[in-house]
Amino acid sequence: MADIVTDVLIIGTGPAGSATAALLSSQGVANMAVNRYRWLANTPRAHITNQRTMEVLRDLGREVEDEAYLHAAPQDLMGENVFCESLAGEEIGRMKSWGKHPLSRAEHILTSPCRMNDLPQTFMEPILFKTACARGTQSRMSTEYVSHEQDAQGVTTTLRDRLDGRTFTVRSKFLVGADGGNSLVAEHAGLPFEGRMGVGGSMNILFRADLSRYVAHRPSVLYWVMQPGADVGGIGMGLVRMVRPWNEWLIVWGYDINQPAPVVDEALATQVARQLVGDPDLQIELLSANTWTVNNMYATHMHKGRVFIMGDAAHRHPPSNGLGSNTSIQDGFNLAWKLGMVAKGQASPALLDTYSAERAPIAKQIVTRANQSIAEFGPIFEALGMDGGVDTDKIQRNMAARCDATPAAETQREALRRAIADKCYEFDAHGVEMNQRYRSSAIVTDGQPEPPFEKDPELHAQLTTWPGSRLPHAWVFDRQGREISTLDLCGRGQFTLLTGIGGEGWVEAAQRVGASLGLPIRAHVIGPRRAIEDHTGDWARAREIGDAGCILVRPDHHVCWRSAGLASDPEAEFGRVLTAILGR
Ligand code: FDA
Repeated sequence: MADIVTDVLIIGTGPAGSATAALLSSQGVANMAVNRYRWLANTPRAHITNQRTMEVLRDLGREVEDEAYLHAAPQDLMGENVFCESLAGEEIGRMKSWGKHPLSRAEHILTSPCRMNDLPQTFMEPILFKTACARGTQSRMSTEYVSHEQDAQGVTTTLRDRLDGRTFTVRSKFLVGADGGNSLVAEHAGLPFEGRMGVGGSMNILFRADLSRYVAHRPSVLYWVMQPGADVGGIGMGLVRMVRPWNEWLIVWGYDINQPAPVVDEALATQVARQLVGDPDLQIELLSANTWTVNNMYATHMHKGRVFIMGDAAHRHPPSNGLGSNTSIQDGFNLAWKLGMVAKGQASPALLDTYSAERAPIAKQIVTRANQSIAEFGPIFEALGMDGGVDTDKIQRNMAARCDATPAAETQREALRRAIADKCYEFDAHGVEMNQRYRSSAIVTDGQPEPPFEKDPELHAQLTTWPGSRLPHAWVFDRQGREISTLDLCGRGQFTLLTGIGGEGWVEAAQRVGASLGLPIRAHVIGPRRAIEDHTGDWARAREIGDAGCILVRPDHHVCWRSAGLASDPEAEFGRVLTAILGR
């Protein structure tokens, strides 16, 4: 007999675990979250918070979304991505990043009701964790996962209270391993991985110092420093990373992974900070320092029976592209509603198989992208003649050569411009953030072929209602003329049907089928003199169906089916689709 019983036990209260707990509690699903430490993240770690993640927070409630903006550095302060000799030294180039370029900003505005921002993990985790606990999550800190055993009915997990050493068991319907890059849950479940851990060495130096004079006129979250040794290990180049504007910073500097990791004491931390800032007298208040390794590894399957892994437990990669906590939170958005519906008996356990089918390809994609971004610093070093050597005089000569009035120097300048511009694949990859399309049995095709991407799919978001895609955002209006995003019409743990005038038959079908399956379906008719109106026509242009057609949207905003027009028997058609998705 287990000591504690719950529906879902979550190991870890990082971005993945806390988001999942908050989503489950918002749906009224009993859950418990444990963390082996006394409290949440004690160093800032991930910062870049993309629009898709903000949509998850918005789904949790406008107060949750607003609290994130309150603590975040806004998008306007994020994007003058500087490449320099040092903060005080020569600027070598710059690229507008994270939606700073007006064309990119327009795409951001058109794609989502939410704004990208820079929110240190020390702020993100408490927002998610607080939301979870306030809504019903039982949490235990200083509590360590030890082992688990699963059977046909559930999972029995052994935990250890680290305060008194006592072990106890929790019986749950499901176990979620959100226990980070050294996941014991993944290991004990025997889940398969591809790739390698420890492909590069890096050190983090977190400190306080007012650096306004070097940065406030070119506001950015990332200042890339090119010095001898900057291409060794690490994340592609030396980095001075804004944590709080402009007096808290994180330096990331690489070391050779084939050598022992350096001991980053106050003396070394101060030396590296002075070197990258370019101020030999800089005084820093050192907050913390540690070494870490660059990983290139992802799970090819993310669950075994009743045990699931998510976040860094499933995808282990460098911070390049800022995808770490974003993807972790988005894993939770995919899984939480499925766990909830299966726990409540509204869906068959077969629905849970779609989690891995949908998210494992994303894990591979983002791990590959983040590691490729490190390699894509190479052409910048080449253009400057920095070939991995540490001969400072030679490097200075090569860097100076680009200033000459010679054809060779002009070629070098062009190569440098191109190499910096190509870093948009790391710093402005809006498509990577927004274009996730799912294929699984929780998506029912309408027979239409997948629309090809018209622009580079890594750089540009492309909105479509093709089943598997995230629902396009368009502003529609209530009867008072107030703006509402189409995404706001959906989500919050429920399926939603969107139709137009002439599609009322779909609404009746959804209500009847929902009632018979014990699963309320939300439905909106969008059109003139209806509760939701489309004054601008933006929704009509985005929806890719006729007025009497319909789009069925999952709780995680992904379209799972659409029909171009009204079916001859809408109830039979809707019933066929919904039972297939739910596996019933
Ligand atoms: P995360 O690692 O955040 O959380 C794991 C949770 O599981 C923690 O609560 C932990 O205590 C708990 N846990 C682990 N084992 C347990 C056990 N046996 N029992 C109980 N609890 C257990 N990313 C990025 O995009 N930019 C960046 O700059 C950085 N920098 C960075 C620095 C450092 C030092 C680290 C460790 C990580 C980063 N990252 C990062 C990565 C980023 O922080 C990461 O992608 C997310 O935190 C992943 O969130 P998860 O919730 O999956 O795991």
